[in-house]
Amino acid sequence: MWNRKHLLGLEELSREEIVEVLDRARTFRESCTSSARKHSTLAGKTVVMLFFEPSTRTTTSFTLAAQRLSADVVGFSNSGSSTTKGETLIDTVRNIEAMGVDILVIRHGASGAPHLAARHVDVSVVNAGDGTHEHPTQGLLDLYTIREKKGKFEGLKVVIVGDIAHSRVARSNIFGLRTLGAEVFVSGPATLVPEHITELGATVVKDFDEIVGEADVINVLRIQRERIEGTVLPSTAEYTRLFGLTRERERRMKPDAIVMHPGPINRGVEIAPEVADGSRSVILEQVTNGVAVRMAVLSMVVGK
Ligand code: CP
Repeated sequence: MWNRKHLLGLEELSREEIVEVLDRARTFRESCTSSARKHSTLAGKTVVMLFFEPSTRTTTSFTLAAQRLSADVVGFSNSGSSTTKGETLIDTVRNIEAMGVDILVIRHGASGAPHLAARHVDVSVVNAGDGTHEHPTQGLLDLYTIREKKGKFEGLKVVIVGDIAHSRVARSNIFGLRTLGAEVFVSGPATLVPEHITELGATVVKDFDEIVGEADVINVLRIQRERIEGTVLPSTAEYTRLFGLTRERERRMKPDAIVMHPGPINRGVEIAPEVADGSRSVILEQVTNGVAVRMAVLSMVVGK
């Protein structure tokens, strides 16, 4: 039974808690596409979006989720805030809390920032991506999408390919998928696959071509250039040749295997445009499911 005030990561969630979120999200899923969109679940509550890093999908998705639950929503942009004048994260969140809010949705470039905030406020904190650590609602929407498409997790082979080292999406996926019983494989350039990833329960496959034909799900990640210092790849063309989900590799996938990507996509680099837009791709379904998953999370952290 869900009894958490915050959602900070998938590492700490039990199987039952994850399934409860996915089941709740399903009850909201229809309202993501139908005209009967509004629920009164969070009427009278205020949700503040504290995004210290750029975002298209997550910020829009959380905003729509909160609005469809009838919450009041306040946006916050780092560039226009007093953090540029030297205010600390703790002072920022305590000042916002003092205005009478209920949920802080935080994205931050520093791993652990939402956890730090949660220790200094009494309101609910939801992690919308912290550094290279976790992106729990992306992980949950990926799990939701896989469950809808495959109907199970046990026995599934999920391959995550790309920049594993800098990916909070990879970590949240690994935690969630392992908890639910899927096999997880990671593949990418040696410079972008940390050795310790095996300790999280993932198997490293150096040659992406070895696993392409066995996967039930391939989750493609972009190279997170904004988090990389120095050179980790010989060239973009070399990366695409060895680890890109090209049309040729797509043809070797199992007939019912699906292609996922958390976005933003670098077309022609980690994924061919024809594959991103092709019949196996569930990328836009992931985005739609994300609103329902975030509706579930926002309602659950305040005990609704
Ligand atoms: N998937 C994801 O987090 O996308 P945004 O950075 O656009 O929010």
